[in-house]
Amino acid sequence: MLSMLAQLAIGAIDLAAAFLLIYGLKRMSSPVTAPSGIFVAGIGMLAAIVASFLYVFAVRAAALPHLPVNVGLAIAALVIGGGAAWWSGKKVAMTSMPQMVALYNGMGGGAAAAIAAVELLSNQAQGVTALSITLIGALIGAVSLSGSLIAWAKLDGVIEHPLRIKGQQILNGLMMLATLAVGGYIVFLTQTGSVPLLPVSDLIYLFFACALVFGVLMTLPIGGADMPVVISIYNAFTGLAVGLEGFVLQNPALMIAGMVVGAAGLLLTLLMAKAMNRSVSNVVFTNFGAIVKAKPGAIKGDLKPVDAGDAGIFMRYASTVIIVPGYGLAVAHGQQKLYEFVKLLQAAGVKVKFAVHPVAGRMPGQMDVLLAEANVPYDMIFQLEDINDEFSHTDAVLVIGANDVVNPAARTDKSSPIFGMPILNVDQAKQVYVVKRGEGRGYAGIVNALFYGENCNMVYGDAQAVLIKMIEAVRGLGPVGN
Ligand code: TAP
Repeated sequence: MLSMLAQLAIGAIDLAAAFLLIYGLKRMSSPVTAPSGIFVAGIGMLAAIVASFLYVFAVRAAALPHLPVNVGLAIAALVIGGGAAWWSGKKVAMTSMPQMVALYNGMGGGAAAAIAAVELLSNQAQGVTALSITLIGALIGAVSLSGSLIAWAKLDGVIEHPLRIKGQQILNGLMMLATLAVGGYIVFLTQTGSVPLLPVSDLIYLFFACALVFGVLMTLPIGGADMPVVISIYNAFTGLAVGLEGFVLQNPALMIAGMVVGAAGLLLTLLMAKAMNRSVSNVVFTNFGAIVKAKPGAIKGDLKPVDAGDAGIFMRYASTVIIVPGYGLAVAHGQQKLYEFVKLLQAAGVKVKFAVHPVAGRMPGQMDVLLAEANVPYDMIFQLEDINDEFSHTDAVLVIGANDVVNPAARTDKSSPIFGMPILNVDQAKQVYVVKRGEGRGYAGIVNALFYGENCNMVYGDAQAVLIKMIEAVRGLGPVGN
């Protein structure tokens, strides 16, 4: 009776959890509803965790001692893991978010691989289909774990340079084949009952070792700057692995959550690649992100530095200003000061808009989150396609910590690594101010002709420090009307 009730409760909670996860994800598609979306999905996750504990009651008393379940250990893992996640989530800086996502994604892949390991070692996956699906889930989960950890190390600067060797792709291919061969041999042995070369449990360990090494080898040669796309690919992998393990366990919540994560990761990967005008295979198999030297004579004009205060005052007397935030704004934590400056401009009657490029910063939606943090109203924030026609009739554009997303080479220079990427048409504005610390290149490592244009002035300095000077200068003019 108790086991039947528990099974009913698990079914109902799993269904509710799946609904909450999908509904939460839907709400995350807009910055306005995203915080509540995260909350709703979190409740869904909590419900799924509660349901997993009910499994202990759902099996008959006689079968309980044979279950590979240790409730005490599970609670200890929840407390330690949940506590660490809570603490790190509170502490993490906005600019370190991609590293954190990489770590958590790796944990997801590791969890899927661990479920598969339990199924394989306790001989729960019976039959060719179930065994093959478990092995595929194990492979994808393990690759996602080791690959995400390398991605984390690269984003965090622990590994500073891509490690490339001659014949890297052949080596990766061989490693992949070796992993599949071990997996195939395990299926063959268990189906035919032939005498194994090694005990099957050792073969299972070998399979995991090969999969983990493959994940490392696949990720090491990719440039650190491409890591957000790589993490998104691994995110899709993790979802797929979880979904496959859910299928083997016949657990609907795992299946639905896995497929939702997998589909979301895949769509995000494709969107990022499209916004960068690169294919996913180009990200994984080419050496993007290396510094590209400008061709002699390719850039005409000079860099023309101006004082931060003068730039601020110019914008105070403009009618229309568009602000283009980029990665450097996040580095400088300048979003609050930026909005303070914008409010001063608005008080003086200036019409101000924000233009956000889809891949500005280092992770999807980073600029939207940054501006939301500073309480910038959503109706002031415009995406590329909605604002690109306005630059040509705008008095002044403030490019703050952005570089690649405003580089006209994307339109004109076929040899440029960003050729074809849609960019914000900042170069068409009447006056442009670019705030950056010095001659640093952007993510793609290329020179930006915009900075040398007749209509462009450089305001050198850390974004936040520059904004403070601009605010002081505008305030120094006294109340509006002077
Ligand atoms: P970037 O092209 O990376 O340029 C950032 C600029 O900010 C640099 O030129 C740097 O110049 C300046 N900067 C750094 N710290 C600063 C600070 N404290 N104060 C002021 N300026 C500072 O940034 P972007 O224009 O946002 O473009 C994003 C790039 O990342 C694109 O190429 C995109 O394809 C790539 N990417 C994005 C994503 C996502 S999803 N967003 C994912 C993968 C790749 P100085 O060193 O001279 O200061």
